[in-house]
Amino acid sequence: MSSAALSSADIRQQVEALGEWFQNLDLKGVATAPRHYLGDYPANKWRRIGPALPARLDGLSVLDIGCNAGFHALECKRRGARRVLGIDADARYLAQARFAAAVLNLEVAFEHRSVYALAELDERFDYVFFLGLIYHLRYPLYALDLAARLTRRRLVFQTMLRGSAQVAPPAPDYDFWDRSPFRRPEFPKLYFIERSYAGDPTNWWIPNRAAAEAMLRSAGLEPVAHPEPETWICAPTGRAGYVWERELAGTL
Ligand SMILES: C[S@@+](CC[C@H](N)C(=O)[O-])C[C@H]1O[C@@H](n2cnc3c(N)ncnc32)[C@H](O)[C@@H]1O
Repeated sequence: MSSAALSSADIRQQVEALGEWFQNLDLKGVATAPRHYLGDYPANKWRRIGPALPARLDGLSVLDIGCNAGFHALECKRRGARRVLGIDADARYLAQARFAAAVLNLEVAFEHRSVYALAELDERFDYVFFLGLIYHLRYPLYALDLAARLTRRRLVFQTMLRGSAQVAPPAPDYDFWDRSPFRRPEFPKLYFIERSYAGDPTNWWIPNRAAAEAMLRSAGLEPVAHPEPETWICAPTGRAGYVWERELAGTL
């Protein structure tokens, strides 16, 4: 029997067999994570992010990095995207994503691949999703640089934020002897988690709002929309920090 023809009872059984779900997907009436601590997640965020993106993506390609059970990849396929690739470092989530795509009869490719292995990917994408991922990474700017390099039109970025929500334009330089900028709430800060945060030892760096925006700019990503407090839609500028680094090293 094809997955598209499964009964609700069969779908529920498979959902349970696939372990604990982080994303609450609606699989033909079967909710995969109905008791999520963030509510109807990520549909509740998508209700604000989705309208800030084109209603149709016909002919376009999409990369969803850290795709989990595929919510955003599947939504983009529903909008008519030609090619949709979801990657995740956790094979358990990819099994959930493949099952969801089969039930919903949507053609999406899911690959077991780390964000760091994007360096080996010889493909660019019109839309790149980088949602709920940065704080799970020990090398956040490297990953963001790699994602920016693959982005043709827009990169959609979301992160947990902690600390001050104040922002100010960056100064061109800071005096070595003046320590006051570091005490200002609007100075970009990444909070380092050595052990575990919210019961999750894979949380490493949590930015404040100023740091999230500064890191995006530094990766050559110019925010063009901010549809909800944790999400920025960015255009690639092609002027990333790593380009300057390579220019300085004389290798560009
Ligand atoms: C908080 S969830 C966010 C899932 C989804 N993007 C969303 O916004 O709902 C983080 C996801 O990133 C994945 N992940 C963590 N480290 C990764 C890495 N190095 N490369 C790719 N995916 C990673 C996890 O397996 C998990 O599915």
